[in-house]
Amino acid sequence: MKSDIQDTRLISDFSVINDDLCRDAILGFCDSPLFHDDGNRYEENFYGRRLRPHVIKYLNFTKPLETGETCNYAAFAANRILFAMNEVDFLMLPSGDLKPKDFEDRYSNARISQAHLGMPYLEKYLFSFLDKEIVVSDNWSVKSVEEYFKGFAEQASKITSTPATEAILSSNQPSVSARDWLIQLAPDFLIESSPMARYASGNYGPISSSLFKIIIDELGYGEHDRKHSSLFEETLKSAELSSEPHKYWQYYLNGSLLLANYYNMITRNRRYFFRYIGAIYQAETGFIRTCALWRDALKSALPSLDVRYFDEHCHIDIDHSRMAFDSLVKVAIEAYGNYAAQEIVRGFEEARFVSEIAEKDFVAQVKWKDESTLNTTRYKQIWPAVQAAYKAGEVDIGPLDEPRNELSITHSHDGDELCHVSEGTMEFLNGFQHSTILKKDEGIIIQRNRLHGALIQSENCKYEIYSIKDVYRWL
Ligand SMILES: [Fe+2]
Ligand SMILES: [Fe+2]
Ligand SMILES: [Fe+2]
Repeated sequence: MKSDIQDTRLISDFSVINDDLCRDAILGFCDSPLFHDDGNRYEENFYGRRLRPHVIKYLNFTKPLETGETCNYAAFAANRILFAMNEVDFLMLPSGDLKPKDFEDRYSNARISQAHLGMPYLEKYLFSFLDKEIVVSDNWSVKSVEEYFKGFAEQASKITSTPATEAILSSNQPSVSARDWLIQLAPDFLIESSPMARYASGNYGPISSSLFKIIIDELGYGEHDRKHSSLFEETLKSAELSSEPHKYWQYYLNGSLLLANYYNMITRNRRYFFRYIGAIYQAETGFIRTCALWRDALKSALPSLDVRYFDEHCHIDIDHSRMAFDSLVKVAIEAYGNYAAQEIVRGFEEARFVSEIAEKDFVAQVKWKDESTLNTTRYKQIWPAVQAAYKAGEVDIGPLDEPRNELSITHSHDGDELCHVSEGTMEFLNGFQHSTILKKDEGIIIQRNRLHGALIQSENCKYEIYSIKDVYRWL
């Protein structure tokens, strides 16, 4: 029998993702000294990506997220792992000393196989909500897509601010918020065009050559100083930030990683090629205007900022947007019809939707950092009631006792929490470059979904985390 092929030992159907196998792969991947918690608030190891791996076995990635759940901690953990897994495809070398042991670990066969089992699994968990969220009608033609996209281009060219620029300019500390925004762009910009360059391979006709023209622009035509990621490194340095990838790993927000992982998904899996074309049109077109707005807001917050990265995009993305439409979108629909058109529109909508999630996350984080004093005041207001409720057995508590320099790697919670220090001193990390010192009998409300961490600043520190679920119930 020529169709009698399989001699199954373990898995008979690879189209059904095996939960146990993928769970093993994910936990195995995360078990490396490069990913274990350490005491550095900024990453000190070139290949280090802190994943809080000791927590991962308690998280459940089997049931895909619903739209409102993308800001939960499990999603954040999945985004961190997925980003680190995608890096098995991208060569990263330090400018200084290379530690061979770390290099070999990061690109070992074990990590590569774990990553390639884990990535589709985590993508299913993180991105399935888009199937429900984005409903694309059929019967698209070159003409109707053109009308729709040109309408978007016209609208995008007229905007006068974005949620991120407004957040930066109206925040208590615009320079810190501006640096924070640069950091949120870093997961994408520091390896800019690496996901795109996955499409440099293959044999797919004239579209491949047109896309390659965009790739070589992004790469600065082989001149390292002109490479877009190099320009962005100069931007970071001029903002007094390190340009080493990914030094500020712990401050990448969930939404920023979700966006980067979306582009990784639609470039690594070639089945999503048409979606990628739609997404790239959306990105190149929207960026013409937002890039100028970001530049102006960042520059006003950080006057000595090197803005060549942004200037370059304001002009070159006019070309890229036109090229993306004329030589990718149009040509693909002419060649592959309705299937291509629908996928292109889907990619366009998905990219827009996910980038909005990312920007909203940043806006919420800036507000959370700005409200640090309000959150210590709220703590004082509700502390007696929370303590009484705890004594009555109505509130759960996590008691902790930690030594000096113990760092709680940044994370988030799915409900509001109250942090109370009963002994010693803690530097509560409200987010990037913003801390609140908490001493004995002081505390703070921790808002759900907001990135935070803690660093112990005394010989030891005893503190308790009370699960208050919703702060407004207590006010
Ligand atoms: Fe670029
Ligand atoms: Fe571009
Ligand atoms: Fe926490």
